[in-house]
Amino acid sequence: MSVLELHDVHKSFGDLKVLKGINFKVERGEIVVILGPSGAGKSTLLRIMNFLEHPDSGQVVFLGKKLNGNYKIIRWARSKMGFVFQHFNLFSHLKALDNVAIGLVKVKGKSWHEAREIAMKYLEKVGLSDKAQNYPSQLSGGQKQRVAIARALAMEPEMILFDEPTSALDPSLVGEVLEVMKSLAREGRTMIVVTHEMGFAKSVGTRIIYMEDGRILEESGPTEFFKNPRNERAKRFVDSILERVI
Ligand SMILES: Nc1ncnc2c1ncn2[C@@H]1O[C@H](COP(=O)(O)OP(=O)(O)OP(=O)(O)O)[C@@H](O)[C@H]1O
Ligand SMILES: [Mg+2]
Repeated sequence: MSVLELHDVHKSFGDLKVLKGINFKVERGEIVVILGPSGAGKSTLLRIMNFLEHPDSGQVVFLGKKLNGNYKIIRWARSKMGFVFQHFNLFSHLKALDNVAIGLVKVKGKSWHEAREIAMKYLEKVGLSDKAQNYPSQLSGGQKQRVAIARALAMEPEMILFDEPTSALDPSLVGEVLEVMKSLAREGRTMIVVTHEMGFAKSVGTRIIYMEDGRILEESGPTEFFKNPRNERAKRFVDSILERVI
């Protein structure tokens, strides 16, 4: 059974067609990297996978269950899917530890005591046990994002979605977040990552999906994709990013 399947998913905002028939499957342990220019529909696609947006038509199937608008099923699916956002989305009034613990209390019904014990374990995992008592305003961007990753992990998700997790960060802080993501990849976690970090895409991705204008234009292994993209627009995108790096 695939972890996630999308069948002919369409989505418009008013007259703007943002997703134009997306078909897509993710198997356990895959690290799927989604690339594409701004406005391609990448964030919308991730939000549909998590049912933060409803598709106009088509189907999303998570662990064999259709997400069809039934709120109970959506809640169940969300509890098994981590989501890491570009802008962290931490609660500013909660300490790092409680930002990680709160989902365990609210969604999994644990006591605060037990939730904090579990949360501490995950803060240790991302190298932040010494910052447990800090509020988000007392953390660097890289540390905030690692707290957000710990929060996702604490829920023991079947899959984690990352939407440009490093693009709001100062360049000097990108590495520490990518290192944590690489360690998750090595553990065999199922991940879908929207990123402009080509080095990460190439060395960690097991599959690359190139999107433009609401469609998937190319899907291939990372070596193949970066060496010889079949699609002309994918090739131009890769060239333009590599030029910017140099
Ligand atoms: N809630 C919304 N209401 C109206 N239009 C929206 C909404 N969300 C996204 N859009 C539009 O849909 C298109 C795709 O947006 P999306 O955020 O999915 O792109 P993206 O590929 O993630 O881009 P970026 O790389 O800049 O993050 C854009 O033209 C955007 O303006
Ligand atoms: Mg986006």
